[in-house]
Amino acid sequence: MSTTPDFHSGINQGVAPVTYGQGERPPRGDYAQARADYTCDQNWAAYTPAEHDLYRRLYERQAAQLPGLACDEFVASVQHLGAPSQIPRFDALSEKLHRATRWQVVAVPGLIPEEAFFALLAQRRFPVTGWIRRPEEFDYVVEPDVFHDLFGHVPLLFNPMFADYMQAYGAGGLKASRLESCEYLARLYWYTVEFGLIATPAGLRAYGAGILSSAGELRHSVTSPCPQRLGFDLERIMRTRYKIDSYQTTYFVIDSFRQLFEATAPDFTPIYARVAQQGQLAAEERLPSDRVY
Ligand SMILES: [Fe+2]
Repeated sequence: MSTTPDFHSGINQGVAPVTYGQGERPPRGDYAQARADYTCDQNWAAYTPAEHDLYRRLYERQAAQLPGLACDEFVASVQHLGAPSQIPRFDALSEKLHRATRWQVVAVPGLIPEEAFFALLAQRRFPVTGWIRRPEEFDYVVEPDVFHDLFGHVPLLFNPMFADYMQAYGAGGLKASRLESCEYLARLYWYTVEFGLIATPAGLRAYGAGILSSAGELRHSVTSPCPQRLGFDLERIMRTRYKIDSYQTTYFVIDSFRQLFEATAPDFTPIYARVAQQGQLAAEERLPSDRVY
């Protein structure tokens, strides 16, 4: 995930494609159409009726599962995506989002390099993949597609505190790139933005996009006796490896979005140094200091 975009003034030359994980998977998405910052046009007219219908079926299956499993903030905001009958137009969604929290959604061809990702977040622009999964990937898709990016991520960007956390994360990422600490920040993103749980008076609820857009992991993460659920601990998270191709074995639980925002406010430079000294932890490891739910 480190590619230097080609800067050619005024001419769209495309950018180098990005692939997922360490396997031999070919890139998905048309990187030839992307600008130097990796954004591109959504090309909404190119979606087929079958693709809109696939989006609708994904949306309806997930929406039916939200009560009792998704956090209230997510449930309150998911309606902003509009009618599930078709893939939303990013420009119309951006207008609503900008009025709420000054964020926008921008189209990207697929995965983008870390630096480009951090730069967009720091500008309050959330990159959303243009393509949708194939019908045979209805239950599971490895790479994030338009359904994961929109349904999983965008509703919480309507929440002011979470929106500020995401921008701060992007700014922190740009700094971490210079310090070569992106791995630690990637783990923070994974265990909060993608797979985070939040403690509420009604019980644990999901706020992570990877969970909220997953047919099976939403219920698993909140109710299964198998995974361990540990209290949020910034340095612990930065040490913990994660799994990209199975349900998580560990989830971290925040008390509030304010806690998340405040925990990430300090300068991470000394924290990165400590984490580097302490060493990595396996995804399923348990420490005596863990606060277990
Ligand atoms: Fe995601």
